[in-house]
Amino acid sequence: MFGIEFIGTGSYVPEFVADNNKFSEFLDTSDEWITPRTGIKERRILTDKPNYYMGVKAAEAALENAKLDAKDIDLIIVSSCSPDFFYPCMACLIQKDIGAENAACIDVNSACTGFITALDVAQKYLATDHYKTILVVATEKLSAQQDYTDRSMCILFGDAAGAAVVRRSDKEFYSMLGASGDDFEALYCKINYQSNCPFFEDDAPFYNNRFDTHAKKNYLQSDGHAVYKFAVNAMNKAVRNVAEQSGWNIEDIDLVIPHQANLRIIKKATEMLGVDPDKVYTNIQRLGNVSSACIPVALDELNRAGRLHKGMKICFVGFGAGLTYGAIIMEF
Ligand code: UT7
Repeated sequence: MFGIEFIGTGSYVPEFVADNNKFSEFLDTSDEWITPRTGIKERRILTDKPNYYMGVKAAEAALENAKLDAKDIDLIIVSSCSPDFFYPCMACLIQKDIGAENAACIDVNSACTGFITALDVAQKYLATDHYKTILVVATEKLSAQQDYTDRSMCILFGDAAGAAVVRRSDKEFYSMLGASGDDFEALYCKINYQSNCPFFEDDAPFYNNRFDTHAKKNYLQSDGHAVYKFAVNAMNKAVRNVAEQSGWNIEDIDLVIPHQANLRIIKKATEMLGVDPDKVYTNIQRLGNVSSACIPVALDELNRAGRLHKGMKICFVGFGAGLTYGAIIMEF
């Protein structure tokens, strides 16, 4: 069993800050409602550039931190559920700007679980020895998928990107990925193809008219309560699974970096696991939910603050649209 080593980390958050009061200017909402229910005080929004711009910035920061040249990268894996193009993949767009001409490029999309998925894929590729130096990027522009007249959802999300350069190591690494496609309607963003194909008919009957396939085109749709319930149980299940694989007790974990969807979800799940709250890192207060970028941005913040030490036992855990979930427990 091979593990992975973080050679460098990077992140990027846009300059524009939308605090809770900014939302009260155009919505019937308030800081008094948002803060206690979500933990979010403010989030960043990329107002004038495509998503991949943030991925490029985070990737460049990770390469600088790793003291590597972009040409040293042989594979780029990008997680994004808010891509700029159907194709090419985001990895190709990032490759172009950073000049990683020797890299193969792939994207993964398991929504907010995406960084965990991408890191797990990286570990598997590194174990085959086929690739030596992998750049993993998670870049998300969730602001582009929000209906800013829907106060129950748009206040939750922001934009950001995180990146890490990884190589194979002898350190311990255990992962689990799970999915419950049956529950996909709890959280989705349907593509609105604007085809003028004269043979097309309405596809709503295919979905048994279970949801309105036209009215809220290209907007994130969610049943917040269903996601909340799923999230707490899924995080609990995923962490217990990787802890069992590793043979470590949950008390042995030095640091938990969870997906940042709602502070209440994080508190409830970690309480059920019996994790000391001081070991749980959160940045949702400043960034909101930035989907798969939550975990790598947090990782970079901790790295740059000098809070990551060799030999630490770190746990990443997340959940997201799919519905998907997953966890990694590894020696840093
Ligand atoms: O990465 C995963 C993405 N999805 C999620 O993370 C969603 C997970 N779910 C949640 O975080 C929570 O369920 C929410 C934050 C979305 C909602 O919190 P809640 O405590 O479950 O509130 P609620 O949906 O039960 O709404 C309570 C009330 C409702 O009013 P009525 O019907 O009681 O009169 C809502 O209309 O709060 C109202 N409300 C708001 N009021 C002010 C909903 N959103 C807002 C708002 N401001 N932004």
